[in-house]
Amino acid sequence: VRFGADGPIVEAARGATILDAARAAGFFIDSLCGGDGHCGKCRVVVREGNVSGGAAAPLTPEEIAQGFALACLARIEDDALIDIPERSLLREPAPHSGDLRVSRGAGFADEGAVAELDPLVRRLSLRVATPTLENNAADFDRLETAARAALPPNAAIRADLDVLRALPAALRLSDGAVSVTVAWSEGSYRILEIAPAEAVASNLAVALDVGTTTLAAHLVDLTTGATLAAALRYNGQAAYGADVIRRIIWCDSENGGLERLQGITAADVNAMIEDMCEKAGHPREEITAIAAAGNTTMIHLLLGVTPRWIRREPYTGAMRQPPPVRASGVGLAIHPAGLLYCLPSVSGFVGADITAGVMACGLDVGGAVRMLVDIGTNGEIVIGNKDWMVAASASAGPAFEGAGNRDGMRATAGAIDHVGGLAADGALRFTAIGGAPPVGFCGTAYVDLLAELLRAAVMDKAGKFNAAAGSDRLRENSDGTPEFVVVRAGESGAERDLAITRDDVANLMRAKAAIYAAIKVLLRSVGLRFDDIEEVLVAGAFGAFLDMPNAVSIGLLPDLPAARLRFAGNTSLQGAKMAALSVGHYNRARRIADKMTYFELSTDPNFMDEFAAACFFPHTHIEEFPSVRSGRGASGVLSRQDNVKCKMRNEKPRMRAHKA
Ligand code: FES
Repeated sequence: VRFGADGPIVEAARGATILDAARAAGFFIDSLCGGDGHCGKCRVVVREGNVSGGAAAPLTPEEIAQGFALACLARIEDDALIDIPERSLLREPAPHSGDLRVSRGAGFADEGAVAELDPLVRRLSLRVATPTLENNAADFDRLETAARAALPPNAAIRADLDVLRALPAALRLSDGAVSVTVAWSEGSYRILEIAPAEAVASNLAVALDVGTTTLAAHLVDLTTGATLAAALRYNGQAAYGADVIRRIIWCDSENGGLERLQGITAADVNAMIEDMCEKAGHPREEITAIAAAGNTTMIHLLLGVTPRWIRREPYTGAMRQPPPVRASGVGLAIHPAGLLYCLPSVSGFVGADITAGVMACGLDVGGAVRMLVDIGTNGEIVIGNKDWMVAASASAGPAFEGAGNRDGMRATAGAIDHVGGLAADGALRFTAIGGAPPVGFCGTAYVDLLAELLRAAVMDKAGKFNAAAGSDRLRENSDGTPEFVVVRAGESGAERDLAITRDDVANLMRAKAAIYAAIKVLLRSVGLRFDDIEEVLVAGAFGAFLDMPNAVSIGLLPDLPAARLRFAGNTSLQGAKMAALSVGHYNRARRIADKMTYFELSTDPNFMDEFAAACFFPHTHIEEFPSVRSGRGASGVLSRQDNVKCKMRNEKPRMRAHKA
C-alpha cells in the first residue's frame, strides 16, 4: 500500500484496515471513536486499488463518489494508493505547554518555586575511608558513614544486591573516591550506582505530564533546578480513541492491547527524551529520574498495569500510589538504573495530574478556600484549603478538545483558536494557529463561537439557531441539520465550508453543563457558595488560551469577579517538576492525595438536576450569572484580542476580518 503518490510503501496483509497500514507507514490518522466507524475523522481517499468496506456514513454520498473511505473500516484487498487528507492527520500540537515556563502569573509555583533543591535522585561525590585494622568496618558501613554526611539527617540508606556486588571493587579501584547515585524510594535512599569519582556526570530528570491527548515534558537539571529543554507531543494512543474509556475498552478487547498501548506511550516518551537531550546536549544516560503525572488511566497504561476496572463500577484502579520503579522496566530509555516516579492519584477519575495541579497551585497551603478546574478530556474539579479538599470528575467528554464536533480538531496548526466580532452585518474575525489556512475548530474557538452566536442572537439560549436573525451564514446542511458557516470554502484549508452544527452546539452544551453541574454539586457537598471561593484557577492547555469572559457568558465557568478567575497553565507538568526537584514536594503530593475526598457524581442524586439546569446558555437560573444578565460581561478579564495570547504563542496578533 502506498500512501501518497510519492509517499512510503508498506506491506499489509489482505484484510488489514487502512488505519493499521497507515500506522505501519508512520502516519497517525485521527481516529476519535477508536475505529468504531462513528466519528468520521479518519477519512482517506482511495486513489487506486481494491479496498472493501469503508464507504459508509458518516461519509456523504458525494464524498463516497469522490473516493473517500473511512480508514478504520476500509480493508485492503489488493495493492492500493491511498491519500490521507491533511485534516485527517494528527499533527504536532501547538507548542504552548512545551514552553519552558508552564505557569504564569504571580503566586504560581514556577521555575524558582523549589527554593531548596532536594531532588529525588542525587549524585554524591564521596571519599570513603580506607579500611584499617583500627577501622575495619564493612565496605557498606563505611560508605554509609560517608553518604550520611551528604544527605539529610537520619536518612536511611540501602543498597540492592547488584550494588553490593560492585562495591568492594569500586572502592578499591579509586582509593575510596567514588560517585554514588542515590534515589529517594519508600522512605529511604536507595543506592542506584557506584562509580569512580572521575566518572561524575550531570544529574538530570524528566518531568512528564501524560495527558490523554498530549504529552508534555521538561528536562531539568537536578543539581541547579534549571529547565534545559521542553518537548510536546500528541499521545500516540489517540489512534485508539480520544478518551480514556475508549482506550480501556480497546485495551480490554484486543489481544495484547495493554502491551500495545504501553509500548506506544513508552515510544512517545522516549522520542521526547531524545528530542530534549539533543536540544540540551546531554546523553540520555544522565537522566536518573522521571517524575510523571497524568490521569489514573494514563498512569496505569504508562506502567503497563491494566486499567480495566476503572471503567466498571465501583471504578477502582489497581493502585493509587505506585512505588518508584526502574524506568527500564517499562521501556523508558534513561540511565539503566534510573527510576520512574509516578505521582499519586485520588481515585479512578481524579488522577495524579490533579494531585500535581493542587500542589503547583498551592491549594493545600493557607486557609483561603480555592478551586482548581482542569478542563481536559474530562473536567476535574478540586475545592479546598490546607485543612480539607474535595474533588470530583465530570464526564464532559472531549468536546472542548475539539473532538466529537463535525469540524472540531485538536489545537494544532490550522485550527481556528479564537473567533470574535460577529456583527449584525455578518463580519466575522478569527485566528488560526500558526497562521495556516483554517481547517477546523479547537475547543477555545467553540467557546468564543457560542458566545458570539448568543450575543448576535443568531442562536438562542437553548442552543437553537434563530432563522429570524437573518444571517446568510445560517443554513441546513445536506442531511437537513441546521448549521452556521464560519469560514467559506474559498478561505478554508479544508476546501469546504467550516461550520458549527446544531448537533455540535448540543454536544458542547452538554460538556459545559457537566462541568458546571459538577462544580455546583461539589460546592453543595461542603455547604459553600460561589461567594465563599476566593479564587478559581483554570488549568490545562485549554485553560491557558480560554477567553474567560466568553467561558462565563456560556456558563462554563461561574460568574465571579475577574480578579478571582485565573489561568494556571499546565499544572500537572509543573507539579511533576516540583516533585522531581524536591523529595519534600514528592511526599507532599502523597499527603495531598490522601487528604482529598472524592465525590462520585454518578451516584449523586443532585447531579442530574444540576446538569439539566445547566443545559442552557448560560444557565436556566440566570440569577447565577449576574454579569451576563445585566449585559455587562465579566468585567476586566483578559480578552482574547489581548496581545498576551499571541505572545504566548510567539506570534503576532493576527485576527483576520472576513465579510459575509
Ligand atoms: S470513523 Fe474511523 S476512527 Fe472514527
